[in-house]
Amino acid sequence: MDPSQVKIPPMKDLTVDNITENVIRINSLCDDERMKYVLERLVTHLHDFARETRLSSQEWMTGLKFLTEVGQICTEVRQEYILLSDVLGLSILVDSIDHPKPSGSTEGTVLGPFHTHEAEELPAGGSMSKDPAGEPLLVVCNIRDTNGKPVEGVKIDIWETDSSGHYDVQHADREGPDGRCIMRSDKEGIFWFQAITPVPYPIPHDGPVGRLLKKLGRHPYRPSHMHFMFEKEGFDHLITALYLRNDPFETSDAVFGVKDSLVVDIKRAGPEYAAKYGVSEDHALLTYDFVLVSDVETRELREKNSKAALDKLGRKVKIVNGLPIPELD
Ligand code: BEZ
Ligand code: FE
Repeated sequence: MDPSQVKIPPMKDLTVDNITENVIRINSLCDDERMKYVLERLVTHLHDFARETRLSSQEWMTGLKFLTEVGQICTEVRQEYILLSDVLGLSILVDSIDHPKPSGSTEGTVLGPFHTHEAEELPAGGSMSKDPAGEPLLVVCNIRDTNGKPVEGVKIDIWETDSSGHYDVQHADREGPDGRCIMRSDKEGIFWFQAITPVPYPIPHDGPVGRLLKKLGRHPYRPSHMHFMFEKEGFDHLITALYLRNDPFETSDAVFGVKDSLVVDIKRAGPEYAAKYGVSEDHALLTYDFVLVSDVETRELREKNSKAALDKLGRKVKIVNGLPIPELD
């Protein structure tokens, strides 16, 4: 490479006060406007963080060693970086920004690291759990759009832990997928299946993220929940979960995922559900009405929220596909 051909602004004698603008200037050779904007903001906040905290070399080395350990423990089934993003509140923040929900629609929550692509599709009424120790739970749900119309043919991915609070992938000796399934909504937007009553469990805390939580005086528990992921063309991809009311960790979830609209009561089937779904009257029952938002509605809301947020910050940007990039003209 001939350095005289490279259009790099001259940079020398950089100081605490001018390093930021120079790093931004050299990064601005990038011809992807969105990436350039993200990097500009990232460098600005990172440098301000170091200036504000008067970060010592030793502290930054500790930080780098921590990030190295987070990387070293990662495997296909141990996603420590996702955990880190979760316990820092970044996962739920990004989900809320990228998947805004009009009032009355189902809110999203954290995906977590335990979704897999192994689940089998079950017919209506199928059982997703092979755990004999779990309390059998009948789950009956329906899906509507924001106009109240039933949505047929939605692919729903569902996953939960076993009664010991572990996902199937956390058992080294597992024989195949368990505690997970795929369902499709019928003409009336209904899907129903047999599961087990969720239990609270700790997120993996035997690694660097667990040590961080301990140092911060935080517990690693998530309240009892069941995960749902909805996909249908024309609708915004919804990743959510239902949480059981009065769980001991309902208001202290280690990953900040609980929203009031997603908290449910486990009831008893009673005569009507017992007759319709072939269970005993005292069988545990979970019901929920999900409301999906169309792609169009989501795009409009994302764009509106982006404009309002950037206006509030007093930043001159233009919004492309709902995402800000610098306004050049
Ligand atoms: C979960 O609910 O599966 C989960 C979410 C965040 C971190 C760990 C687990
Ligand atoms: Fe979970």
